[in-house]
Amino acid sequence: MRKEISRAEGVIQKDNLMRTVGVIQEDNLIQTVGIIQEENLIQAEGVVRSFPVPGAEDFWALKGMDITIPRGRLTMLKGRSGSGKTTLLNILSALDLPNEGRVSFEGRIINEMSEGEREELRRYQMGFVFQSVALIPIMSAYENVDFGLRLSGYPENHGERIREVLSLVGLEERMAHLPRQMSGGEQQRVAIARAIAHKPRIIFADEPTGALDTATGLAVVKLFRTLLEKQELTIVMSTHDPNLMELGDLVYEIEDGEIVGREEHFNPL
Ligand SMILES: Nc1ncnc2c1ncn2[C@@H]1O[C@H](COP(=O)(O)OP(=O)(O)OP(=O)(O)O)[C@@H](O)[C@H]1O
Ligand SMILES: [Mg+2]
Repeated sequence: MRKEISRAEGVIQKDNLMRTVGVIQEDNLIQTVGIIQEENLIQAEGVVRSFPVPGAEDFWALKGMDITIPRGRLTMLKGRSGSGKTTLLNILSALDLPNEGRVSFEGRIINEMSEGEREELRRYQMGFVFQSVALIPIMSAYENVDFGLRLSGYPENHGERIREVLSLVGLEERMAHLPRQMSGGEQQRVAIARAIAHKPRIIFADEPTGALDTATGLAVVKLFRTLLEKQELTIVMSTHDPNLMELGDLVYEIEDGEIVGREEHFNPL
């Protein structure tokens, strides 16, 4: 019988595809005890986005970015105001097209899709959360989620799904509340429930914690982590807040339209 001498829990990333979750060293033999095959949900190569500026040269918001978004993980984009986070999110989520470069979603090339196909991709496969919560003020939490589900053409029993997602974000007691009867953090949780209700593959969250205090912001990101665990989801969010970075599995640092850093953290699901 071989004896376990030491055990290392960690992450070894190989070619972006393999993640080793545990290694046991036994009598000088190394045994890998768990490998999760990881794929990229989104892959972008050489993405350039410039905007025309009247009377001046074009402004280059993205200067040739390569970025991959691994499936089932929380990816963060960090960078100063004006660095290009929103521009990049718009391109990754098929809202905007790059001037140059290629973006693929599950192997389908977004640049080659028709406008209708991109619209469909966004409606069925993607969910969105913004800094300004954007709930409909005259609708309760329940009705806001219901409204989102109607827009997405969700076929199944709405009532059941609405109660399920509002419970998932911890708001089962607030379903009948109007936005103004809820705190900022609670409103953002309704927005998150609305974003996941139609079972998208990915959530894009542009500064979802930007309008919240540090503790509430942290709670929102922790909720994202819980959702990764409970739903088959991938999440990409942008943030300025250095306190949140450790909770990202992958953090890209963006500066002046370029990726200047890529950091991985081991966050067990
Ligand atoms: N439609 C546009 N026309 C011209 N310039 C634009 C346009 N959209 C964005 N920009 C410029 O591109 C740069 C990147 O903008 P972007 O909104 O992506 O930054 P950001 O990192 O999201 O900033 P913030 O943290 O403030 O949200 C900015 O300098 C901005 O002024
Ligand atoms: Mg922005």
